[in-house]
Parts: sequence; structure tokens; C-alpha cells
Amino acid sequence: MASTTLLGTDLPLAAAPMAGGPTTLDLLAATTDAGAFAFLAGGYQTPDALAEQVRRAHDHARPFGVNLFVPATAPAPDPAALAAYARRIGDDAAAHGVDLDAALAAVPATDDDGWAAKIDLLRRDPVPVVSFTFGPPAVADVGALRAAGSVVLVTVTTPQEAAAAEELGADGLVVQGPRAGGHSGTWDPGRSVGDGATADAVAAVVAGTRLPVVAAGGVDGAPAVARLLRAGAQAVAVGTLLLRADEAGTSATHRDALADPRFTTTAVTRAFTGRPARALRNGFLVRHDAHAPVGYPQVHHLTRELRRRAAAAGDADRLHLWAGTGYRSAAAGPAADVVRGLAAGL
Ligand SMILES: Cc1cc2nc3c(=O)[nH]c(=O)nc-3n(C[C@H](O)[C@H](O)[C@H](O)COP(=O)(O)O)c2cc1C
Repeated sequence: MASTTLLGTDLPLAAAPMAGGPTTLDLLAATTDAGAFAFLAGGYQTPDALAEQVRRAHDHARPFGVNLFVPATAPAPDPAALAAYARRIGDDAAAHGVDLDAALAAVPATDDDGWAAKIDLLRRDPVPVVSFTFGPPAVADVGALRAAGSVVLVTVTTPQEAAAAEELGADGLVVQGPRAGGHSGTWDPGRSVGDGATADAVAAVVAGTRLPVVAAGGVDGAPAVARLLRAGAQAVAVGTLLLRADEAGTSATHRDALADPRFTTTAVTRAFTGRPARALRNGFLVRHDAHAPVGYPQVHHLTRELRRRAAAAGDADRLHLWAGTGYRSAAAGPAADVVRGLAAGL
């Protein structure tokens, strides 16, 4: 089997970064021990927490990557639109005793997720691979991380984004298809992400770039991995298939929902965070999808406490149940079994 020169692993498989809990050091260890590459999720973490996680990941011998959210450059949503959305979701918030007026007042004017401190950390304490999502990093940051010895990957969803990432000096691309679980990496959160096959997105990007590609999105088993490799990817990253793994930090409410026959499909929505993301189609999504403003991270902050309480209370109807289209194949058990199962079928 061809090894991935980009990621440095024998298997053409990666554990995708999953911020908000699912990615843990145990998941990194389990998947890399099984021969895959693995990403830490730097998004949402404080710079200090990420620094500690990176320090501990270095103790584990295998190569790994760190993923960061690129801060939004689009203007914040109109305050009136955000307030209208807060009123809309008021009953859902009240169900968990959340005061949405207070939540609205507490939405920060700006939030760059600790960007500068995280870039500094990765320059001081370089990791084998740094990947970005949500937009293009600055040329200077790409150059600085490469100079520090990291391979720099940029997540793209279209051939246009791929061309721009190549211009920036990226070493490779993560091509994320519309069927991926969680947030879309689209650089334009106002666009409709669609439903197309990841293999089509990979083929379209590969036709126009010299850069090596890691594909992600909608993988439900080894045949899907093989299709993406045939489409031109050098490696394939899986997220959803690992959400129920023993070592993942996925909340119990989310874990159980993934196996609950009550949920029969996924959809892309901005209802939870203001940025398109694929989730199990639950009540909150159905009620509010059509009304959510484009506005990440403002909507994320507005709904955060409500979602935290929903997760703690076992309320799957109001939680962001991130899931790719392959969620029915996400099995409980050791993460190594997921990696080995995919590898055995190639
Ligand atoms: C719970 C969850 C959290 C995610 N968090 C991130 C993240 O922090 N950064 C990122 O680049 N992608 C994130 N993603 C997307 C994954 O990296 C990857 O693109 C996706 O999981 C691949 O599709 P699949 O879920 O169908 O395997 C997340 C996905 C999920 C399901």
C-alpha cells in the first residue's frame, strides 16, 4: 500500500480534528498507534490548554497535526438580526432556564479564538503538520510555520479556494466535501454547501492543483476511502466514524443520538452557530434552520449555554448533533478497530 508522503504514515488514513470535545489525547494515541495520522483540534481551546495538549502529544512518538480555526473576516451580523434570532430561539432557551437577553448581551464583539497566541505557540513548539479551516491563513503565518518545520495544510471546499491556498504557499490541501460532519470549512459561510459527493469535490480540485490532497467527508467504510483515493487523494480523514469510539470525548447525549433510530437523516444548517455545519436533523434544526443569520462566531456564543445545558440534560432535541452522512456506520468500541477496519478493506 502506498504510504502518504504528505502525512508520513504508512496508512492513507487520518483521524480528522473534531473540536468541542470529541478529539482527545487518548483518541490521538489510539488512532496513531493503529497506524493512522491524527489531528488535535485547536479550535475553542484556550492557547494555554492547547499548549499543554501539544506538549503531551509530543511525548507520544507518532507524528500528529494541530488544526486551527481561521478567524472570520466578514463583518459581524446586524445586531437586529441577531436579536431577532435570539427571540426566535427563546422557547428553546427557556426550556433549560437560559436567559437569552443575558446571552445576547454577552456575545463578544470580536472573537478570534486566540489566533495570535496559538500561532506563536506553534512557532515556538512546532508540530509535524498544521492544518487550517474556515478560511485562508495569512501568507506570513503560512511562511512562519513552514520555516519552523511544519507541513501546512489548508482546508478547501472548491477549486477556487484550492487555487487561492496554493497561492498562499500551502504544502497540501484538505478537501472537505459537503457530506462531512460538523462545520464546513467553506471560506464563504453564506454560501449553500450542498450535498455532493466528496469524490467529486476531490476530482475537481485535483484537476487544477499540483498540491497533494487529504480528502474528508461522508466516509462510511473502506469502499468510500478507496473511492476517494481513486479520485486522487493521498489520504482520507474520518471524523464521524470515530465519534462513538471509546477514546473520543463525545458527550453521552451526542453519542446516544448517533445510534438512535429516531434520527433518520442529516442536514447542513447555520441554526446552531451561524456557520454551515452538518448535523443530525433534530427539533432545533428543523425549527430554526430557515431563520438563522450568517454569523459565526456570534450565533455560536448566543446558543452556547443552551447547548451546554442540553448536552448535560440529555436533551438531543436541542443539541448540535454534528454528524456526517456516514453516521450509521459509527460504531462503539476501540478507535483502533475503526482504523483497522478501514485499512483492512483497502
Ligand atoms: C464533532 C465534529 C467536530 C469537528 N471539528 C472540526 C475542527 O475543529 N476543525 C476542522 O477542520 N474540522 C472539524 N470537523 C470536520 C472534520 O475535520 C472532517 O472534515 C469531517 O469529520 C469529515 O467528514 P466525516 O465526519 O463524514 O468523516 C469536525 C467534525 C465533527 C463531526
